[in-house]
Amino acid sequence: MIKRKIAIMSLMLMSSVAALAADEVNLYSQRHYPADKEVFSLFTEKTGIKVNVVTANADELIERLQSEGEKSPADVLITKDAARLHWAESEGLYQEVKSELLVKNVPAHLRDPGMRWFGFTQRARVLVYAMDRVKAGELKTYEDLAKPEWKGRVIARSASNIYNQSLLSAMIATKGEKEALLWAVKVRRNMARKPQGSDRDQIRAVASGLADVAIVNSYYLGLLVNSEDPKDRDLASKVKIAFPNQEGRGAHVNISGIGVCKHAKNKDNAVKFIEFLSSKEVQSLYAEKTYEYPLSLEMITPLHRSWGSFKPDTINLKALGVNNAKAIKIFQAAKWE
Ligand SMILES: [Fe+2]
Repeated sequence: MIKRKIAIMSLMLMSSVAALAADEVNLYSQRHYPADKEVFSLFTEKTGIKVNVVTANADELIERLQSEGEKSPADVLITKDAARLHWAESEGLYQEVKSELLVKNVPAHLRDPGMRWFGFTQRARVLVYAMDRVKAGELKTYEDLAKPEWKGRVIARSASNIYNQSLLSAMIATKGEKEALLWAVKVRRNMARKPQGSDRDQIRAVASGLADVAIVNSYYLGLLVNSEDPKDRDLASKVKIAFPNQEGRGAHVNISGIGVCKHAKNKDNAVKFIEFLSSKEVQSLYAEKTYEYPLSLEMITPLHRSWGSFKPDTINLKALGVNNAKAIKIFQAAKWE
């Protein structure tokens, strides 16, 4: 009798150990934000599912998934740009997810039409200008940057940067390659210096008088506004955001996004995790801590509100991946380094 009891108990123990071992989700992520760690612990707290993370740049993670094939331990792949989500998808690295919740929570233009990847934060690529040298309303569109009155006044980072490639890819999708090339050539000629540095560096350069306007992702201004360095906070107080193309196609947005890997061993947990990212709780946590935009622009923070509300370009972000090779070629032709 006692023996039987022990046998049953050890069986129970074994199955709970097995359940514990299976209760995990393995992420390959290009993101390395402290806020992500908070989100992961919150997920574990709520579900009991352990989150394991491998971080590296997107191309390394995509290569790793390819070489690991069926043996890959990755359940999801996270990137900071829609073009890379599309590459992973076109390489067959993702699988379709059926989830009513994701259809509801993720706006259609921020997810793959085939339900293989989903945005979980939005990032607006905006114009940041010097308050004392540019009047509010003077800059209305990305196209304005190509006008002769902006000669020597514009700055942007390198064309090797995926955010710029994606901005141009969206322009190619709506205006065609010819217009996109003309724009890139003219903006390049209007630049105050060779493309260089990060988005944050562009804002700092505008604030310190090196140029009058920069093309940047809005959360970088959030990072400067809330910086521990008083110099950065001071610089941030000298610039403002203009949301471009508000009377037309809207401001260009990109996403941080995620999909379930083709050979995921913990698919159910992976879907649960993606659904969790789309929840109100996580959406407001990201908006507060990383200054990115939530999936629903109705959930913006007071900082976002201080920049004003904006209309996003709602072109499906698959276009950023589809047009990426063309965008790179156009930047080369425009000598935008
Ligand atoms: Fe970024």
